[in-house]
Amino acid sequence: MSPGKPTILVTGGAGYIGSHTVLALKQAGYNVVILDNLVYGHRELVEKVLEVELIVGDTGDRALLDDIFKTHDISAVMHFSAYAYVGESVTDPAKYYRNNVLGTFTLLEAMLAASVKKFVFSSTCATYGVPEFVPIPETHPQNPINPYGATKLMVERILSDFDVAYGFQSVRFRYFNAAGANPNGLLGEDHNPETHLIPLVLMTALGKRESISIFGTDYPTPDGTCIRDYIHVNDLADAHILGLEYLLKGGDSEVFNLGNGSGFSVREVIAAAQQITGISIPVEERDRRPGDPPILIGTSEKARTILGWQPQYLSIQDIVTHAWQWHQKRHK
Ligand SMILES: NC(=O)c1ccc[n+]([C@@H]2O[C@H](COP(=O)([O-])OP(=O)(O)OC[C@H]3O[C@@H](n4cnc5c(N)ncnc54)[C@H](O)[C@@H]3O)[C@@H](O)[C@H]2O)c1
Repeated sequence: MSPGKPTILVTGGAGYIGSHTVLALKQAGYNVVILDNLVYGHRELVEKVLEVELIVGDTGDRALLDDIFKTHDISAVMHFSAYAYVGESVTDPAKYYRNNVLGTFTLLEAMLAASVKKFVFSSTCATYGVPEFVPIPETHPQNPINPYGATKLMVERILSDFDVAYGFQSVRFRYFNAAGANPNGLLGEDHNPETHLIPLVLMTALGKRESISIFGTDYPTPDGTCIRDYIHVNDLADAHILGLEYLLKGGDSEVFNLGNGSGFSVREVIAAAQQITGISIPVEERDRRPGDPPILIGTSEKARTILGWQPQYLSIQDIVTHAWQWHQKRHK
């Protein structure tokens, strides 16, 4: 325990972005308590790398939450926990509304009951749906095209209403594609199943998968493949510390995009991975998938201006290099 520094409850702290942020919180001197049901989180990373208190439980468990707020002097909550598989959210939306909306709502009510009113929320660029223009600013219309995006937009709406009625201050971060790994090699991305491009490409390089599929090669982009905005997970973690400190200093509720500002095509990511790993990566070209916009890039000027966020790792080479260091160790 660091005397004098606030204690932060981090839901989903055993997951990918949460674990990187917990390490950044610890390094900034905060006390951290993780609440994670370990459905997708990694106990051993919390115990061996993060070394903070882990409460194994669910954000939908009101009695557990009341107990946590009673027994810990929590100043703010960072809420990473959610289900985040877009495809599954289409085939099993109940699972997503229950966890991402009801689970979050239960947490918010428990916070209100305990008079904890500072909240950092993991929202997503999926709330924008198919962009009307790029780069996407925070003011772009929000029309999610899948239940996952809809669950996040619903929580954003609840947070706005809670602010007006209860003085509940939140920072809502709309991330673009989280990517990379902590350069220390001890933390990284390990989703199961994995659906994100960079880990899939690197697992193909490691021989864990036969090939990497490119869905669509006839998009109106320079090389015909989709362009996405990849933001390094350590830069996301830094933004969370800044967002937290903004709230602790009394900042008003705000929404911020967190993205790279530059996009990289699927072919560019694969080329970077081949160059960094020195391995030729087998590719299969397939048809477009429904619902994939050609280009998704966000502008994060607002986070830079208001929070003073300065992302450090914007090049695809840095992002893939750090991810590669992690994957080589993880899948040895
Ligand atoms: N990874 C991305 O590119 C990305 C992009 C935009 C938004 N997000 C959002 O960021 C957050 C973190 O994403 P991630 O990639 O680190 O996911 P992740 O699956 O690695 O982490 C989520 C963690 O939450 C836990 N969890 C899920 N439901 C829970 C519940 N009801 N109670 C307690 N714990 C629960 C899981 O066990 C897991 O450890 C999610 O809310 C996601 O929607 C992620």
